Amino acid sequence: MGLFRFSLCFFILNIALFSTLCFSGDPTVSTELHVSSTTVSPLGVPQKVITINGKFPGPVINVTTNNHVIVDVFNQLDEDLLITWSGVQMRRNSWQDGVLGTNCPIPSKWNWTYQFQVKDQIGSFFYFPSTNFQRASGGFGPFVINNREIIPIPFAQPDGEIFIMIGDWYTQDYTALRSTLDGGKDLGIPDGVLINGKGPYQYNNTLVPNGIDHETITVDPGKTYRIRVHNVGISTSLNFRIQNHNLFLVETEGYYTDQANYTDFDIHAGQSYSFLLSTDQNASTDYYIVASARFVNESLWQKVTGVAVLHYSNSKGGVSGPLPPPPDDFYNKGASMNQARSIRLNTSASGARPNPQGSFRYGSINITDTYLLKVTAPVAINGTTRAAINGISFLKPDVPFRLADNNQLRGIYKLDFPSKPMNRTPVIDRSIINATYKGFIEIVLQNNDSSVQNFHLDGYSFFVVGMDYGDWSENSRNSYNRWDAISRSTTQVFPGGWTAILVSLDNVGSWNLRAENLDRWYLGQETYLRIVNPEEAGDTETGAPENVLYCGPLKYKQKKQTPSSSSADSSLGSGFLFTLFMGILVIFTSS
Ligand SMILES: *[C@@H]1O[C@H](CO)[C@@H](O)[C@H](O)[C@H]1NC(C)=O
Ligand SMILES: *[C@@H]1O[C@H](CO)[C@@H](O)[C@H](O)[C@H]1NC(C)=O
Ligand SMILES: *[C@@H]1O[C@H](CO)[C@@H](O)[C@H](O)[C@H]1NC(C)=O
Ligand SMILES: *[C@@H]1O[C@H](CO)[C@@H](O)[C@H](O)[C@H]1NC(C)=O
Ligand SMILES: *[C@@H]1O[C@H](CO)[C@@H](O)[C@H](O)[C@H]1NC(C)=O
Ligand SMILES: *[C@@H]1O[C@H](CO)[C@@H](O)[C@H](O)[C@H]1NC(C)=O
Ligand SMILES: *[C@@H]1O[C@H](CO)[C@@H](O)[C@H](O)[C@H]1NC(C)=O
Ligand SMILES: *[C@@H]1O[C@H](CO)[C@@H](O)[C@H](O)[C@H]1NC(C)=O
Ligand SMILES: *[C@@H]1O[C@H](CO)[C@@H](O)[C@H](O)[C@H]1NC(C)=O
Ligand SMILES: *[C@@H]1O[C@H](CO)[C@@H](O)[C@H](O)[C@H]1NC(C)=O
Ligand SMILES: *[C@@H]1O[C@H](CO)[C@@H](O)[C@H](O)[C@H]1NC(C)=O
Repeated sequence: MGLFRFSLCFFILNIALFSTLCFSGDPTVSTELHVSSTTVSPLGVPQKVITINGKFPGPVINVTTNNHVIVDVFNQLDEDLLITWSGVQMRRNSWQDGVLGTNCPIPSKWNWTYQFQVKDQIGSFFYFPSTNFQRASGGFGPFVINNREIIPIPFAQPDGEIFIMIGDWYTQDYTALRSTLDGGKDLGIPDGVLINGKGPYQYNNTLVPNGIDHETITVDPGKTYRIRVHNVGISTSLNFRIQNHNLFLVETEGYYTDQANYTDFDIHAGQSYSFLLSTDQNASTDYYIVASARFVNESLWQKVTGVAVLHYSNSKGGVSGPLPPPPDDFYNKGASMNQARSIRLNTSASGARPNPQGSFRYGSINITDTYLLKVTAPVAINGTTRAAINGISFLKPDVPFRLADNNQLRGIYKLDFPSKPMNRTPVIDRSIINATYKGFIEIVLQNNDSSVQNFHLDGYSFFVVGMDYGDWSENSRNSYNRWDAISRSTTQVFPGGWTAILVSLDNVGSWNLRAENLDRWYLGQETYLRIVNPEEAGDTETGAPENVLYCGPLKYKQKKQTPSSSSADSSLGSGFLFTLFMGILVIFTSS
């Protein structure tokens, strides 16, 4: 019966929300992601982009705290695929995380169903393809976890929600960009910035050619909207601003912040924020929405500017004139860092649970281990260009680590990741961090490179307790914010500077710590934290799912999949009728 009910759940697709049918207790949300590609010209040059259910960017996955989520991913690309859920924490279940150290890739023309619970979490996240540089061509979309109804949000219910995905963009697709990196070359200056998959509004005829489609966001006057902004780009830090409007910061990657107005905000690759937008202007014109490259020579990077239009429903005219100016602080490298430091945790706002987040006094917990992780500019190793952390350039896994453990495969990875920078020539290796379960660790990210490097940790949120320029030393701890540091999952590390984070290692599994700068990640700037409960007898970590895929040395265990009949576009026709039919059946059988 259990199996029967399970398969019923599978067929109620297309974002059906229904309660207590598949699992006892928390409701289940099911959806399908059909990953395919199409040719469009966001910057006026035809190119291949990756679509989800025919859309670029992909649709929103919208769930509530503690929901069970079932996502069936159909790989219609002509190469392997994995989707990961940036910032969504799979409790004790790295089997669903969707990176090469946790999952075998979904082969071309196969589908694979992710199943996980979004336990004790709220906030704004996004999903994206995690391998083969595919994110450079799309495949991303927002992932929202709403508060349960009984947990109030720390601001008035907004009148609407707006999703804004910004990111640098090249007119070459991911396969060409990959070849550039494989050839040891730098990607160079991006060709532009897209906002929700579209090129810039033609604010200047010289800079923006004719015939480019731009994004228009329509709002009503006198309202408050929650805008969720994600930088899904490759590596460019972007300054985000809306002409004549304040950005009222309320949340970042799962935690409510102290609420404050900003006229513009720096959003680094991989980061997510929620702002409240008051439509309090007089609508004598429309307004520009801008995302422009940060910390660069503006005269060389002029084209790396995304421009969309905020259109009031009672607007009396279009946009015109110059864009709202970027911050005028090219020579003041402290300005952006000060803005980052001003993002604080609202210690009295409830997050996923009714008890205040601030009751977790992270500042008084003793640190059990310190990892000083240093990144430098990419170097040549054995004839290829590679990026490294502490002298180790990560060799992509050919089999997931916990799967290897479960199948008694030895020698797949080493547990000797150095906890300090090594003054030696970097090596290519598959070395991961042997982290201690229930430890409370300090990770200092030291950026010895000349561009902003962003780091993301899967399976966790961490406290960003400090950042500064120069070399970190033990004395730097005196400057830590031990009271209301923001908790998040992606942090920037300024060039020539450091960022310190504290992490409570309560989530067993193997979790990816990586550069969010896609080029650096591709070149090996990542590792994993392996966290196992020493008393583990399978009682805390979830076991491998029934549908686990095998690859690499375990490939012989993989059964063939009969190619799915469901193609990218046919899921709405007969699929819908079938859903309806099965839905009726469920209502029938459950009554
Ligand atoms: C997400 O779901 C909530 C209810 O659970 C609903 O209020 C909200 O409008 C939905 N948002 C989107 C973008 O679908
Ligand atoms: C692939 O999709 C079909 C339904 O279209 C489903 O029955 C099957 O379980 C899926 N396969 C996997 C491995 O998730
Ligand atoms: C358009 O951009 C070009 C190149 O930067 C600049 O020379 C020109 O003044 C701009 N035109 C307007 C109307 O701002
Ligand atoms: C923030 O800006 C909004 C809209 O401009 C304004 O109504 C509000 O009073 C400001 N809030 C604070 C705390 O400054
Ligand atoms: C609307 O606001 C703009 C900018 O603040 C101002 O220049 C303009 O005079 C206002 N128009 C009206 C009709 O109030
Ligand atoms: C920016 O680039 C231009 C053109 O190469 C150069 O003339 C200018 O000095 C640069 N500006 C700065 C601040 O480096
Ligand atoms: C923190 O959240 C509470 C609601 O729980 C809210 O009333 C308060 O204004 C917030 N504080 C700040 C500084 O944003
Ligand atoms: C933290 O460490 C200090 C000094 O080593 C010790 O005195 C204290 O009891 C420890 N606190 C906790 C909560 O373990
Ligand atoms: C370079 O390649 C050789 C042969 O594959 C290998 O033995 C050596 O360890 C590699 N060197 C580095 C620095 O990875
Ligand atoms: C990993 O760390 C644990 C202690 O946390 C230790 O017992 C074990 O020997 C370590 N494993 C390796 C391979 O270093
Ligand atoms: C990198 O480290 C070297 C040696 O410590 C230092 O001289 C240099 O200024 C650093 N560069 C950056 C960008 O941090």
